[in-house]
Amino acid sequence: FLSSSVSRLSDNLQKPLAFAFDIDGVLKAGPNVLPEAKRALQILEGNNPRKQKIPYIFITNGGGKHESARAKDLARELEVPVTQDQVIQAHTVMKSLVPLYGDKPILMIGGPETPPNAAREVMQSYGFQNVYTALDLHAHAPAAWPFSTVHPDQLPYVRREDFSKIRFAAILVFHDSREWGRDTQIIIDILRSHNGVFGTEHPPTEPLPDKQIPIYFSHGDLLWGNDHSVVRFGQGAFRLAIENVYKHTTGRDMESVVFGKPHRITYDYANELLRQHLISMSGAETAEAAKAVGPSVWMVGDNTESDIKGAVDFGWSSALVRTGVYKDHNGPPNHKPTILVDNVEQAVIEAIQREW
Ligand code: G3P
Ligand code: MG
Repeated sequence: FLSSSVSRLSDNLQKPLAFAFDIDGVLKAGPNVLPEAKRALQILEGNNPRKQKIPYIFITNGGGKHESARAKDLARELEVPVTQDQVIQAHTVMKSLVPLYGDKPILMIGGPETPPNAAREVMQSYGFQNVYTALDLHAHAPAAWPFSTVHPDQLPYVRREDFSKIRFAAILVFHDSREWGRDTQIIIDILRSHNGVFGTEHPPTEPLPDKQIPIYFSHGDLLWGNDHSVVRFGQGAFRLAIENVYKHTTGRDMESVVFGKPHRITYDYANELLRQHLISMSGAETAEAAKAVGPSVWMVGDNTESDIKGAVDFGWSSALVRTGVYKDHNGPPNHKPTILVDNVEQAVIEAIQREW
C-alpha cells in the first residue's frame, strides 16, 4: 500500500526545471565569452515570466584547474554568482579513484605542470597523496625525451625521487597533454615497464602480465571548438595516438577507462548536484518534487558525441547550439537533440517555453 501511494504521489509531482551548460562552444569561444551567454544566465537568475530562479550547473570536458578556481573565473566572466558545487570538469569525477589509488604512486599527465593551477595540487586536493608528473620523469631522465628540455623556470616544481624504487600503480590523464610527444613516450614507457618502474622493460622472455597497468582519461572528446577558425584536437585524439603506438609496439590493444561527457558517471554526478541545489534553494513544494522525482534537466551543448549523446542516454532533454563543434554543413547530428538552435540564449528561451 505504502509503495503504491508513494508512486501515485510522485506521478502527480512536476519535475522542477534545471539546466546544465557545456562551456566551450556554448558559453565561450576560447577566452571570449559569447554575449548571448550572459543574457541566457540572466534569464535563469530571474529575468523570466515567473520571476523565478532556475538552478543550473556547468559540465565541461575542460579542466586543468581546481573547481573553486573555475567557479571564480566563470562568475567573473559570466557576471553571475557561481559556487564550486556548480562546476563539473572532466577530471572532477576522477575523485572516485581515490579509494583505489589515494595512497599509491600514480603518474599524472596533462594540465598545467607549474603554478598557478598546477594539476598535481588539484589531484592532491582530491585525495591522491602520491602524484608524479611527466615533468618529474623528464627532469630525472633527460634522455628519455631528448627532443625538448625541462625549462629552468620549471625546475623548482619538479618532484625529485629515486624512480627505480617507485612502482606506478596507474596513469591518470588529468587534462590535455601540453607535450604530446614527450607524454606519449612516457605513458608507453610505463605501460611497457616491468611492474610499473620507469626506465625498465618487461623481460621479453617472460609473457606479458594479464593485467595492463591501468590508464584513465578524464574525457574522450576527439574535437572541441575554441576561437580558432577550425575545430581543435581534444584528449580523444591524444588517446588514439597512444593506442596506436601501443598496439604497434606491443601487438596488444590498450585498455583504458574514459571519464567525462558522454559517460554516465559524469551525468549521475551532475544530476545529483542539481537535485541537491533544488532541494536547498526552492520552496517546499519544489524541494519535495526534487527529492521524489528529481529534476527535469536541459543540457545545452555544442558537441553531439559528448554533450548530446550523454544527455540522450541519461534521459535529459537537450539543446544543440550552432556556436561550437556542430556545424549544419557536416550533416544531421548522430545523436538527435530535443531542439537545434543558434545559440545558448535561444536554447534557454525555447526550453522554458516548452517546460512552463
Ligand atoms: O578540452 C576541452 C573540450 O574538450 C571541451 O570543453 O566545455 O566543450 O566540454 P567543453
Ligand atoms: Mg563544448
